[in-house]
Amino acid sequence: MRGVLQVATAYDAFVGAFDLAGLGALRRRLVGGLGGDILEIGVGTGLNLRHYGPQARVAGIEPEAALLRAALPRARARGYTLARAAAQALPFPDGSFDVVVSAIVFCSIPTPLLRAALDEIRRVLRPGGRLIQLEHTRTGHPLLDLPIDAFAPFWLRLSGGCHINRDTPALLAAAGWRVERHERRAFGLYRLLASSPERPPTVEVARRIHALADEHAPLAEERVAAIT
Ligand SMILES: C[S@@+](CC[C@H](N)C(=O)[O-])C[C@H]1O[C@@H](n2cnc3c(N)ncnc32)[C@H](O)[C@@H]1O
Repeated sequence: MRGVLQVATAYDAFVGAFDLAGLGALRRRLVGGLGGDILEIGVGTGLNLRHYGPQARVAGIEPEAALLRAALPRARARGYTLARAAAQALPFPDGSFDVVVSAIVFCSIPTPLLRAALDEIRRVLRPGGRLIQLEHTRTGHPLLDLPIDAFAPFWLRLSGGCHINRDTPALLAAAGWRVERHERRAFGLYRLLASSPERPPTVEVARRIHALADEHAPLAEERVAAIT
């Protein structure tokens, strides 16, 4: 499913406006102090890359060719490497990274692939490694979530796959991750999360991930895939 967020110039204009309005500061808080071997999943056009500090050795992956093309010069300028790949099939050996970063990515991973993506992140992390996230999520406030839920099906199609109302902290907990840091920003529209894998995934966990992720996902084909 393709939409406006898969067009690099449209993406930069749209998300760049959010960056100026405060998202940029959250990005800096997310990655500014990180060091070591870092994998950023879903780098998009690379808007997050400028916020890493000098201690960070960054590799990134992005499945969309057009976005990856826009990100490449931004990565090269900093000595970072990028590859075309998706979170559910990471082209790296086990235990390659100290940190995996996702910046507004878990809203966009298709529901049937969430479990595989979390399993892959777990696989490429070293013991003691963490998943660090900045995600936009449902808020938990009915007055805010009601209009967000109403807008979600329209945005899912226009954006090309962004689930604006996903409950990412609940997904992590259901998948056996321990959420160690959880900062709510902008009334809970954004969350800064730091998590580590707690226990190995099971079939039951996979069912719960799909049930949770699917609760607000209106795409019929995703619902079918999630329960088969
Ligand atoms: C809203 S954009 C965020 C891009 C970038 N991280 C940023 O902060 O601007 C969501 C990104 O997730 C990527 N994405 C979607 N499905 C993915 C998957 N299965 N694995 C990795 N990235 C994925 C999209 O291609 C897109 O680049």
